[in-house]
Amino acid sequence: MTPIGTSPPRPDGPDKVSGRARYTDDLPRPGLWFGATVRSPHPHARLGAIRFHRERAPDGALCLTAADLPGPNGIQLLDDSWPILAAGEVRHVGEAVALVAAATRHGALQAREAVEVDYEPLDAVLGLDEAAALPPLAALEIARGDVEAALAAAEVVVAGEYATGHQEHLYIECQAMTAWVEADGTVVVEGSMQCPYYVHKALVHAFGLPPERVRVRAPPVGGGFGGKEDYPSLIAAHAALLAGACGRPVRIAYDRHEDIVATTKRHPSRTRCRFGLTADGTLQAMDVDMTLDGGAYATLSKVVLSRALLHAGGPYRCPHVRLRGRVLCTHTAPNGAFRGFGAPQGQFAVERHMDRAARRLGLDPYEIRARNLLLPGDPLPTGQVLDDSAAARECLERAAERTGFRRRWREIEALREERGDDGRPRRGIGLALYFHGAGFTGNGERRMLSPVTARLLADGRIEVLTAMTDMGQGCAVVFPQIAAAAGGLGMEDLVFAAPDTAEVPDSGPTVASRTTMIVGGTIARAVAELRRRLESWGREQGAAADTPLREIARRRAAEGPLEVTLRHEPPAWQTFDEESYQGAAYPTYAWGCDVAEVEVEPDTLAVRPLRVTAVCEVGRAIHPVLCAGQIEGGTLQAVGWALLEEVKLEQGRYLNDRLATYIIPTFPDSPRIEVELLEKAWEGGPFGAKGVGELPMDGGAPAVAAAVENATGIAVPAIPATPERLWEWQAGSAAAAPPAAAAGAASPPLLPDPGPRA
Ligand code: MTE
Repeated sequence: MTPIGTSPPRPDGPDKVSGRARYTDDLPRPGLWFGATVRSPHPHARLGAIRFHRERAPDGALCLTAADLPGPNGIQLLDDSWPILAAGEVRHVGEAVALVAAATRHGALQAREAVEVDYEPLDAVLGLDEAAALPPLAALEIARGDVEAALAAAEVVVAGEYATGHQEHLYIECQAMTAWVEADGTVVVEGSMQCPYYVHKALVHAFGLPPERVRVRAPPVGGGFGGKEDYPSLIAAHAALLAGACGRPVRIAYDRHEDIVATTKRHPSRTRCRFGLTADGTLQAMDVDMTLDGGAYATLSKVVLSRALLHAGGPYRCPHVRLRGRVLCTHTAPNGAFRGFGAPQGQFAVERHMDRAARRLGLDPYEIRARNLLLPGDPLPTGQVLDDSAAARECLERAAERTGFRRRWREIEALREERGDDGRPRRGIGLALYFHGAGFTGNGERRMLSPVTARLLADGRIEVLTAMTDMGQGCAVVFPQIAAAAGGLGMEDLVFAAPDTAEVPDSGPTVASRTTMIVGGTIARAVAELRRRLESWGREQGAAADTPLREIARRRAAEGPLEVTLRHEPPAWQTFDEESYQGAAYPTYAWGCDVAEVEVEPDTLAVRPLRVTAVCEVGRAIHPVLCAGQIEGGTLQAVGWALLEEVKLEQGRYLNDRLATYIIPTFPDSPRIEVELLEKAWEGGPFGAKGVGELPMDGGAPAVAAAVENATGIAVPAIPATPERLWEWQAGSAAAAPPAAAAGAASPPLLPDPGPRA
């Protein structure tokens, strides 16, 4: 029986839940020393002398600065503009200025205290308005049709502005890296990361070493959410520098406070939307203008902007579209990859704006979406024509039907005024429709090619080698399911190599919801090809037709090695022009519709999310329990971003830089999340699977904001929608008004709710 569509236990599960799993900072290493980082207290300053007072540090402790770097002072990502250690100036609070190492953790902290740095503070750019005067880190425009003419001709034009805040990844395991130098000069790094080959590339660049002299491996990873895509390259370079200087293994393991202050976050955004519509609510023109705060260095901002804009038209059909954006540079910690990679920011704006347009036209949120949603055969703003797997309609209809959305939304709207302020909690219901393209954008997968190897072991089992890490999303069980199904094998016939650049091919990074869909697809092909070769060998040897494959494999293994390496092959039709941004940015999209229900306390405007119903079209769910779990987790992450999570900065300094003050949802704050998977096998994915890891991050926030609006009448143009901000919007306070109010679009007045749901 095929394991596809079943939900076997994950092999890593028992160790992880029992505490037996050993993460980077649990792994013993003889002679290990510990590193610590001296960080800037200033958002922007000229860097003067750095003095290490050895007498105040433990014996043998050492200190390194940018002057000690053996090669270029840059982390190689898209470019190498992100310094390994500050030189000349510091550009954000928490920027690494110097490194120390000592024999104990405590000793390393003492050594850090022994470093004295001279700074000459400079003016800092801390907001998007100030930053707009400076050259952007990246800029992009995607256009189709004639937006200005279509807006001029439209019967109705609706304008609005929306904003989203930072978000901290808050993976359970903080960033950690151990490095040492082998006797032959090979630099070895072992740590918590999503992308071993990114770290490998950064170390090769920083140390000027041949690729075979750098080895990177990833033990179990305690969550990443994008935060271990870019930052691990920096901390790996730090640990490796110290290890080289000490001549012994050195570990750097951040505590939560340091992790919050130093590492990348989700890009805050501000998005202006102008939609032109006919009086019956059909979209004629969409003009979306997005600004992202990139922080001090570019990191991956250019590709975050690209994905943000590619999703900023939402799952809607429109003949005239202009999606523009830029990433601005501020003196705050660099923002980087975070689940959704810009798409949640863009879709928050477009979903809120659809609701605004609907109100203007007297339509309900369902009607305006049903009138405009993308169907198979419709073009996206890049000209890509959607295939039959486009499922916006199915998701919208099913979510609305399951929750009685239209009736309940209208009842609350109608009764809100009638009810008056009776002091009872107000309930509200809101809806968001969304989509997400999986895999690298445009020609990225074609460039990377992502080899995967399937190899015969002496005992007849098949070993599969990829560079993918299981950071919780579940490839530790999904890959064996795919390989077993493709090879007609039992899961016990398969072995999966741990990610180690000395052992596994570069099958690409564990990002962009590409693990199952792209790498899983290549695993299926490689294992099927190995099986084909074994069977053909068996026939040549005269094996009986009913000889088990494992037996043939065992006999073949005795003859010598056999392995197959295949590369990912993007579909030939998937072409993309990176200059004009026209073509198929992604081979396919997964679709979703969330309906959120909330209760708002009338005295405090505290919002309690009660329930989110997520209906998601995922191609084929390889492991339905994990697939639904991804949607639950991503939805909760989106709800936290919408209501609770706020990075508070004052003069570039963090005010809430600990778990006690950076608030994420715990169980009492979590809504009940009901997931319904719509399965429609997509021919391009392994056994029909699409990538789903990031999809659920797109819908939860706009759905919750819409529900708050339904409950209270407050338009909620920005998140986090904390009680304080809701009060300010309700009071219409100009000083604290959200961008939409600043742009002249007043929030509707507060209206009472009809009371508990029927
Ligand atoms: N789920 C867990 N439990 N932990 C994580 O760190 N990362 C997310 C998502 N789900 C993450 C997670 C991100 S950022 C991505 S890109 C996808 O998982 C990667 O998995 P996929 O490629 O299989 O979708």
